[in-house]
This record gives sequence, C-alpha cells and structure tokens, in this order.
Amino acid sequence: MRKPLAAGNWKMHNTLGAGRDLVSGIKAGIEGGLTGEVATEVLVCPPFTLLYPLKETLAGSPVMLGAQNVHEEEKGAFTGEVSVSMLADAGCSHVIIGHSERRHVFGESGERLNQKVRAVLAGSDMTVIYCVGETLNDREAGQTEQVVGQQMDEVLGPDVPADRLVIAYEPVWAIGTGKTATPDQAQEVHKFIRARLSSIYGEEAADGLRILYGGSVKPGNAADLMGQPDVDGALVGGACLVADDFVAIIKAAASSVR
Ligand code: PGA
Repeated sequence: MRKPLAAGNWKMHNTLGAGRDLVSGIKAGIEGGLTGEVATEVLVCPPFTLLYPLKETLAGSPVMLGAQNVHEEEKGAFTGEVSVSMLADAGCSHVIIGHSERRHVFGESGERLNQKVRAVLAGSDMTVIYCVGETLNDREAGQTEQVVGQQMDEVLGPDVPADRLVIAYEPVWAIGTGKTATPDQAQEVHKFIRARLSSIYGEEAADGLRILYGGSVKPGNAADLMGQPDVDGALVGGACLVADDFVAIIKAAASSVR
C-alpha cells in the first residue's frame, strides 16, 4: 500500500505573516483527522525565506517542509543560489526538482536536473520530488509518453534510491490554467510512468513509489484524480494557498487510501 502525499508548492507567494497564518490554518484543519495512523503525508514547500521560520511554526505537527529548488554545487560563487546543505539545515525533508517553471521559465536542462538530483542524494537525507510533464504541443503531437519517458531517463537510474524519490506528473498545459487532466488522462500517464519505474527498479520497488498528479488540482477534482489506481497524491499550486482548500485536498488524499 502506498501512503498518499499531499504537497503544496507555494511558488513565489507569501511573506512571513501570511505564511504563518497559512500553516496554522493547515495544522488546525487536519488536527485530530490525521493523527494516530496518519493516512496521508502532508508537505508544504514555501519560498526559501520562509523555510526556517516555518520549521519552527510546524514543530510538533506531522506537516513536513520542502524546498522548491536547489543548486547543484555544494558552495561557492553562485550569487542568488541555495545549496543542499542549506536546505537541510533549514529543516527541509523534501526538495522539488524539475518543476515545469524551472524547465521552461529558467531553462533548466535534463543534464542540470540530473546534477541537482545527485547533489541532493549525496549531500543530504532529503527526498526528491522529481517533476515531469508534457506541453500542449507535445500532447497534440502524440508525444506525451516520449517526452515524459525522456525526462525520466535523463535523471533517473538505479543509483537514485527508490525510497528517496517521489515522481510528480504535471502536464504543463494544466498548470495554473484551470484545465485539469481528466482522471483517465492522468491515470494513463501515471501507469506509463510506473511501468518505466518498474524497468529501472523492478516491479516491487516501482509498486511502492508515489506518483503525484499536479496541474489545477482543486477541492472539487482531487478525490476523482486520487481515486485512480496509480495516482498517489497531489502536487498543488494555486489551491494550496488557501488553507481550507488545501485541507480539503489533504482529506481527499487521506480518503483515497485503498
Ligand atoms: P497549479 O500548480 O495547482 O496552480 O496548477 C501546480 C504546480 O505547478 O505544481
């Protein structure tokens, strides 16, 4: 059985007061409902400036802390960048790598993402959330599996331990657009991803790996998406900025446990 993961990617939103209010709202919303045998893992990924103070706000709660990006070098003259050890030091247990905005807005290549993933594995105990997903052009050209498969091949391999890896499938055309993949569309790609993982790690390890869906996940569509057999949680952007909405998605993840 795979424990779902509800992850919130705050992107470049919130200063400290608003960030504290948001995590307090999340903590209050899940209190009682997720204690004991926790039915889903919950993760928030705020901007770098909020990591350390929110670690303190989250102390004693099951909500975990993650970063949205990292630099591949350990240290040095890289103005504006943040290293693996800095994230671990700030209290992160997870880091998102290869988000479509990093790929498309900041031009990060597969090679670069490969270096980032290896830097995280070598330099910390953090779990990598590796994002993949096709553009609308790719989908319309019938290239979805080819693109997603290539993004996986560029970065994954037997040297990336399966127990430190989560995959997020985020079709670029669904991110921030309000156009969600249908549950069937999501399941089709998630199934393909799991088969590819199986060819890298073997069937048993691939069966234990979480594959999140991301792209306009909302309280109203979360349960249907996560009800699919290979959808093991969500990576949520816009809706994770409103405590009640994110809590509703967390609850949908918790009740998707099969
Ligand atoms: P969205 O973003 O939920 O606002 O579509 C998802 C993401 O980019 O991770």
